Amino acid sequence: MEFKTIGTIGAGAPAQAVAAHAARAGHPVLVSNSRGPSTLGDAVAAIGPGASAATFEEAAAADLVLLAVPFGAVPAVGRRLGDWTGRVVVDMTNQFARSDPYRGFADVSPLTGSEWVAQQLPGVTLIKAFNAMFATYMAPDPRH
Ligand SMILES: NC(=O)c1ccc[n+]([C@@H]2O[C@H](COP(=O)([O-])OP(=O)(O)OC[C@H]3O[C@@H](n4cnc5c(N)ncnc54)[C@H](OP(=O)(O)O)[C@@H]3O)[C@@H](O)[C@H]2O)c1
Repeated sequence: MEFKTIGTIGAGAPAQAVAAHAARAGHPVLVSNSRGPSTLGDAVAAIGPGASAATFEEAAAADLVLLAVPFGAVPAVGRRLGDWTGRVVVDMTNQFARSDPYRGFADVSPLTGSEWVAQQLPGVTLIKAFNAMFATYMAPDPRH
């Protein structure tokens, strides 16, 4: 069986939770954040064997990409690649207006949040998933 690579854009608790299940299932996981591979030691260790620190570009080139950044950071993520044609991205974001701490509602009407995210990543194939589950619930058991 060929194992597909999983990339993460964002390396916080929700990205780690989903990535750890993928890594345990045999999928190589490429973890990225905004600050670069040298800052990813803790996240890679938390995900476990099969995970490695990556650049944004390496993670974004994976077979399946987990997008787990603050909603307000999505436009910057989109601009880093420009053309997302052929990329399959799982949108794990929530429409919070502020991220530290998370609160408020980012109104992007008439678009839905994921329509707006797809607009920031031109050409992307976007899947909305995992956003409504706390990382603490996703981490222990994938059936959650
Ligand atoms: N917390 C949960 O239980 C949970 C569950 C499901 C979904 N979510 C959603 O998942 C998203 C992330 O939540 P979180 O709790 O992981 O937030 P977080 O702890 O603030 O982590 C955000 C991550 O995004 C990265 N990031 C920020 N701007 C970036 C950029 N321009 N390019 C690349 N990476 C960037 C950060 O990297 P640096 O640290 O290097 O800046 C960090 O690794 C949010 O939209 C949230 O609503 C959260």
